[in-house]
Amino acid sequence: SGMVTIDPGYKNTGSCESAITFLDGEKGILRYRGYSIEDLAEKADFLEVAYLLIFGELPNKEQLDTFHNDIKEESQVDEEMKKILDGFPKSAHPMGVLSSLTSALVAFNPTSVDVSSESAMYSSIVRILAKFPVLVAWAQRKKKGLPLDYGDDTLGYVENIHKMMFKKPNQEYKKDPIVIDALDKLLILHADHEQNCSTSTVRIVGSSHAGLYASLSAGISALWGPLHGGANQAVLEMLEAIQADGGDTKKYMAKAKDKNDPFRLMGFGHRVYKNFDPRAKIIKKSADEVLGSLGIEDPILDIAKGLEKEALEDDYFVKRKLYPNVDFYSGIIYRALGIPTEMFTVMFALGRLPGWIAQWREMRLKGEPIGRPRQVYVGENLRSFVNVEKR
Ligand code: CMC
Repeated sequence: SGMVTIDPGYKNTGSCESAITFLDGEKGILRYRGYSIEDLAEKADFLEVAYLLIFGELPNKEQLDTFHNDIKEESQVDEEMKKILDGFPKSAHPMGVLSSLTSALVAFNPTSVDVSSESAMYSSIVRILAKFPVLVAWAQRKKKGLPLDYGDDTLGYVENIHKMMFKKPNQEYKKDPIVIDALDKLLILHADHEQNCSTSTVRIVGSSHAGLYASLSAGISALWGPLHGGANQAVLEMLEAIQADGGDTKKYMAKAKDKNDPFRLMGFGHRVYKNFDPRAKIIKKSADEVLGSLGIEDPILDIAKGLEKEALEDDYFVKRKLYPNVDFYSGIIYRALGIPTEMFTVMFALGRLPGWIAQWREMRLKGEPIGRPRQVYVGENLRSFVNVEKR
């Protein structure tokens, strides 16, 4: 009771205390558990970062091996899950497929709701870190019409994901360190971002004591939207549209600035970063490097750079502090790696998985109360019911 202040979009409302990710939007700083994103993207691999985010410390060699082995033990997905996947049309968006399959995992892993001990939570966490990449790979294989497959225990976590996504029948899988490095980096850069829309969704669903997988499934749905993770797909589609339009970036800039046009420059702007997005800086550099080492020349990259330059010099964008965000250049790398455009947001979800898990675990360990925002009612006062014939 008492006065309720409303804050649409929670622009100034904190929902929790958290020891996971530090973000300074003015200075463009992002740190996981105290380690700078630049340092981690350069030196760590994705599985180490997952461990760091979830458990709070970088693992030593033995802890990392145990963690990885525990994950490998759980890397099978129930065969019956394939029937669910079969039921989707090939045209289904992989994000819908992924959230549905993640939700379905609850039915096949009923103990995943058990949070009565740290070890019970650990089992659920390891299980989803093992099975989620299989679902990601299945979503891509369905799109591409490839037979479903499982992982390879002899490979690293990210190598295995890559193999599961791309391995063709009767073809030897070739490891490519450039590709694996690029994937590792992208996944690390997406791994957590404090109380963003999907993470807040995971926390709020989890706060009702729904289980981890149900909470994650809700988070995936939240991520799907074009204002959030769906922006990476939208960016690439925008760049392709500009290309098809003869590279007319000016036209799209004008559309983005026109208040009567709902079009926004996708991959630009951020709720918290008002100076630059440190992830975008790293990804831009990486896009150049990856395309260079793979010997790919993509005119879309030039269009993106041109568009960025124009926006950074434009009053509209400067005044509103709109800069390229994480989604602006990531799609260009995914595309160079042969990942279909509709899979881009799935790759974001794969990267964000450890963050969602870490935030959910932190919330449950702290025993936070159910999330239940208030409102200010602005509707009708009391009215008498009128029978349908008299309306
Ligand atoms: N293009 C054109 N104008 C924009 C853009 C854009 N991309 N982003 C913000 N604006 C304008 C907006 O119209 C508003 O103008 P005015 O003050 O004249 O009304 C002003 O800038 C402030 O925008 P806002 O919508 O109030 O800001 P927000 O914090 O609510 O939204 C955002 C942040 C990221 C949703 C928004 O910038 C946006 O829609 N960007 C495009 C989609 C995108 O790239 N999303 C990915 C975000 S980063 C990673 C992730 O979360 O997945």
